[in-house]
Amino acid sequence: MDNINNNKQQPQQKKQKWFFSLVFSLLLSTILIIISVSMSSTSTKFYNRAYVQTPRPRFVEQQLQVVSTSSEKIPRLAYLISGSTGDGESLKRTLKALYHPRNQYAVHLDLEAPVEERLELARGPTMVTNTLHAAAILFKEGGDWDWFINLSASDYPLVTQDDLLHVLSTIPRNLNFIEHTSDIGWKEYQRAKPVIIDPGLYTVQKSDVFWVPEKRNVPTAYKLFTGSAWMMLSRPFIEFCLWGWDNLPRIVLMYYANFLSSPEGYFHTVICNAEEFRNTTVNHDLHFISWDNPPKQHPHFLNVDDYQRMVDSNAPFARKFGRNEPVLDKIDSELLGRIADGFVPGGWFNNKRNSNLTAPNHAVANTSELKPGAGAERIKRLITGLISAEDFHAKHCI
Ligand SMILES: *[C@@H]1O[C@H](CO)[C@@H](O)[C@H](O)[C@H]1NC(C)=O
Ligand SMILES: *[C@@H]1O[C@H](CO)[C@@H](O)[C@H](O)[C@H]1NC(C)=O
Ligand SMILES: *[C@@H]1O[C@H](CO)[C@@H](O)[C@H](O)[C@H]1NC(C)=O
Ligand SMILES: *[C@@H]1O[C@H](CO)[C@@H](O)[C@H](O)[C@H]1NC(C)=O
Repeated sequence: MDNINNNKQQPQQKKQKWFFSLVFSLLLSTILIIISVSMSSTSTKFYNRAYVQTPRPRFVEQQLQVVSTSSEKIPRLAYLISGSTGDGESLKRTLKALYHPRNQYAVHLDLEAPVEERLELARGPTMVTNTLHAAAILFKEGGDWDWFINLSASDYPLVTQDDLLHVLSTIPRNLNFIEHTSDIGWKEYQRAKPVIIDPGLYTVQKSDVFWVPEKRNVPTAYKLFTGSAWMMLSRPFIEFCLWGWDNLPRIVLMYYANFLSSPEGYFHTVICNAEEFRNTTVNHDLHFISWDNPPKQHPHFLNVDDYQRMVDSNAPFARKFGRNEPVLDKIDSELLGRIADGFVPGGWFNNKRNSNLTAPNHAVANTSELKPGAGAERIKRLITGLISAEDFHAKHCI
């Protein structure tokens, strides 16, 4: 009997203990929740306060005074040069024409490019998959560059790097050269409303984008901007896009994931919706591009007939050129002073001292020694024309 009673009592005691421990743990967790809620509210308060006390960095162009992001007298450029199947030779040529020891280069060859072509270029620059990725790599590995320039194998410079660096050393380093407009026109119906899926985001093989039957509305949370896919962006702005301490670059990126031809809108929309950057925009893409009239989907290939217009445009770059286009030889000899398969002479390596121009055995002691030529005058005309225009301030992001 006793045994049985004992056996009956034990479960009851156990139940009571269990009940007390349940109540206790409930109490404990309630207290913990209350503490954590109040802690998190104080921490948000703390963040708000910190936010107010140290306002976000402002990269406001101040009456066009030199606001150096790096203290070096001569800036450094970071180039991304992309190409696809069969572009290996053109890429190498563009790369040599653009080379300067102060600069950084990332080369992106499309997956479909033959392996030999990729191998030939693998020595110097890193292979990257897209513009932001390349910018991130150049950011992480490339040291202290000041501007990021996106080119393709069918682009070519019209000035030497000495010319370009010389002129860029005189302007504020927070300026962003990005051709843009909020007048999206036909693109509203053809680009902003359709929803596309790019299989390149999740498949190995390259295949065409496909359309989703539904259309979407034009965004109201931010304003869409569009423009040229070619640009020269400042380091502070690239940092803003990559770090994402403000949510805007990330949200806009997610929006553009389903947008046809997003390179013609992503950076434009981000920069013009970011109060601290919109005043740093210069509405030009630094390219000479010749569109047919009326414009077709791609610009027309440049040839010798376009030479004078190219030079007169004062632009530092032109596109697009066919492979081994004869006008490139004319540019080499008349504008760049470059011999076939050679580098462009400049302060860093002297034409006369080196007899072997294809492989200058230069020991560049001082890369900030520049020898600007006629090209510098041309870019100077273009850039000072843009940033000293009377309506320069009125023309940001309109
Ligand atoms: C950058 O370069 C690539 C390759 O030439 C091009 O397709 C793209 O539109 C460019 N622009 C941006 C913003 O990525
Ligand atoms: C940008 O410029 C406009 C017009 O000059 C000015 O009102 C605005 O305050 C500037 N923005 C910033 C962030 O300085
Ligand atoms: C120039 O240098 C390259 C690479 O070292 C070599 O192959 C070539 O024969 C040289 N040319 C002359 C003219 O010395
Ligand atoms: C490098 O060249 C620049 C321009 O000629 C000069 O101002 C600078 O002092 C030179 N630096 C060195 C370390 O020689």
